[in-house]
Amino acid sequence: MCTERPARRGVTYATPLGAVVLLLAACNGTTSYMDATGTAGRHEATLGWWLTAVSCVVVAFVSVAVLLGIARHRNDPQRGDPGVMTRRDVRSGLSWIYVGVAVSIVILAISFGGTLVTLNAASRPRITPSLTIDVTGHQWWWEVTYSQTDNPELGFTTANEVHLPVGEPVRVRLHSADVIHSFWLPQIAGKMDVIPGQVNETWLEARTAGDSRGMCGEYCGLQHSMMALDVRAESPQAFKRWADERRASAKPPTTPTARSGRVVFVRSCGVCHAVAGSDALGRMAPDLTHIASRTTIGAGALTNTPAHLAEWIRNAPGVKEGARMPAMPLTDAELRDVIAYLETLH
Ligand code: CUA
Repeated sequence: MCTERPARRGVTYATPLGAVVLLLAACNGTTSYMDATGTAGRHEATLGWWLTAVSCVVVAFVSVAVLLGIARHRNDPQRGDPGVMTRRDVRSGLSWIYVGVAVSIVILAISFGGTLVTLNAASRPRITPSLTIDVTGHQWWWEVTYSQTDNPELGFTTANEVHLPVGEPVRVRLHSADVIHSFWLPQIAGKMDVIPGQVNETWLEARTAGDSRGMCGEYCGLQHSMMALDVRAESPQAFKRWADERRASAKPPTTPTARSGRVVFVRSCGVCHAVAGSDALGRMAPDLTHIASRTTIGAGALTNTPAHLAEWIRNAPGVKEGARMPAMPLTDAELRDVIAYLETLH
């Protein structure tokens, strides 16, 4: 749930109260499901707050009742031997149990009703989505395809990023290329399992614009925690601009360095990676057609800077242990050229 590392490191040295404060602070980041900005997420967060409040009231009430009972009867002269229950004790105790059971039934029935209403609201969008995204979980990254079949005006593939037009429900079809993952954009909606050999469907709707972080919610191997998605909810106009940019093929490089970088890229990287408009057609690894416009690389492993790209290309398993991308044996000049090329892919 809360995976921010600095907070965890702080916990080691903190008092228990400090630990709670630090953990709560971490939960205020862009992964907090209690700070929901999606339609389903808001319904779920409201139910969560309601159940938390009811639980607190019940615990407080029961604690006070127990303490009052102890205080009242401790020095009761009619009480007699504390080990023996009198007829009077049994009668007054039973009436408390009747009241307690009745109150519990009412509270549980209201909570059950609230849960049903929430489940119903979170199960399907109010209107049929006009946009479909196919998301495929890989160890350890996400392939994201805005479907051409369902969205004739769209049709492109990206990786580790999901953009959503605010106020428009989006259908999501989930596929797995290997093991069970779980697709989770905590601020937008609850989790949905991603299962090999099966297509699970869910839906997303952002209610307010903003950036957040998605993640894999089911342990799927060594780099389960490093399987992040950048999530951006934006106005329908901004979404359309982004989609138009994503759909376009990469522009041919203009500088000699970038041109030579493209040759190296196609030869060394093109078996696994694709760049639309080039001869790199690989589908095993993230599509890099617009890599320069993404904020992170390696599914959240590093911020997307030239230095980090160099580090990643030189030795991806050294950065993200277990990553399928091998360390690339490029010369310094080749590496410089490839990065110059990748930096042109906006
Ligand atoms: Cu994929 Cu955990």
